[in-house]
Amino acid sequence: VAPVYLDNAATSFPKPEEVYRAVDRFMRENGTSAGRGQYSRAVAAEELVLETRKLLAELLGADEPSRVILTSGATEAINLALRGLLRPGDHVVTSSMEHNAVWRCLKALQAEGVADVTAVPSLPDGRLPPERVEQAFRPNTRLVALVQASNVTGTLLPVDRVAELARAHGALVLVDAAQTAGVFPIHVTRTGIDLLAFPGHKGLLGPPGTGGLYIGPGVRLRPLKWGGTGRESLLEDMPETLPDRYEAGTLNVPGLAGLGAGVRYVLERGVDDIREHEKTLIAHALEVLARVPGLRIYGPADPNEQVGVISFNLAGLGPEQVAYALDEAYGIMVRAGLHCAPSAHRTIGTVETGTVRASVGVFNTEQDLDYLARALTEIAALV
Ligand SMILES: Cc1ncc(COP(=O)(O)O)c(C=O)c1O
Repeated sequence: VAPVYLDNAATSFPKPEEVYRAVDRFMRENGTSAGRGQYSRAVAAEELVLETRKLLAELLGADEPSRVILTSGATEAINLALRGLLRPGDHVVTSSMEHNAVWRCLKALQAEGVADVTAVPSLPDGRLPPERVEQAFRPNTRLVALVQASNVTGTLLPVDRVAELARAHGALVLVDAAQTAGVFPIHVTRTGIDLLAFPGHKGLLGPPGTGGLYIGPGVRLRPLKWGGTGRESLLEDMPETLPDRYEAGTLNVPGLAGLGAGVRYVLERGVDDIREHEKTLIAHALEVLARVPGLRIYGPADPNEQVGVISFNLAGLGPEQVAYALDEAYGIMVRAGLHCAPSAHRTIGTVETGTVRASVGVFNTEQDLDYLARALTEIAALV
């Protein structure tokens, strides 16, 4: 049987053909550094980066492409946002469903005496009642940092409502869109999102090593890196101009060429269409997995309340054993364990064992999920 990839929450695979072609073409036919040379090929590389930035701005509803800062992934974007914004005396509200990208970064800032953190507990299925967030605000709350969809359960968190609450309390909002960018509608300007971190290599279908941070008007961050920008070289500090202020060093232009192709694919197909496709797949997965003896699903188990991620366990087997059997005997690739989000596992009651996580992407089909359910039924029969 052909292998079935169900680990799209980690990184998406396969990519659209255009993505492979764009990376290959840039590496072979251009290969220069963007923003560093006056010759025509270097200018073409710079234009290619600008094109990717424009496509990202269009997808995210950002008014100016220069507000989209290109990074190596969501993790770097989150570090830039949190380390760049927070100062001693600041209070941060977050949720118990955060990935370590936010969680460890906030814990480090707390240990350094920079930020005081309140993690608002989600319900056992990951959902977060906005009233709980509202109660956590203090006069010195500078930021709410919230994952838009959990990478453990897929649960959608109420980002729009929390953005309204933050505005009313004079705080900013950072959204971790690692599991939503490209697969769930996002409009930073309309929603009033001040900072939005996204990977380029998951729902945006670009290569690994790509991602970005949207920085809203009125938000000024301290850079995370200092170095060359190709412009204003006489300045001894990083320039004030965007995006240069936050993009020191040679950019990953081949990756960004691929990311541009990925975002173009998403825009052409339409985020709403991709969302519908994933909702259909999740509805189907929930239906067929419910028939597997001894299988317990975590999270809302409702396609309207989650993205294309499902966590589960099989009675009598550890998640690693299940994932190993799926890979060895069936060629099905899923992730097992704590998924870099220990607090989320505490919330859903699986911190001792972790879960098996299956996550779909644009190229998965209902047949892939039928095959998963069949394989799990056979594995369950062996226990
Ligand atoms: C919710 C969440 N936040 C952050 C990240 C980190 O993203 P990246 O791998 O692009 O740094 C991930 C995935 O790895 C994630 O699922």
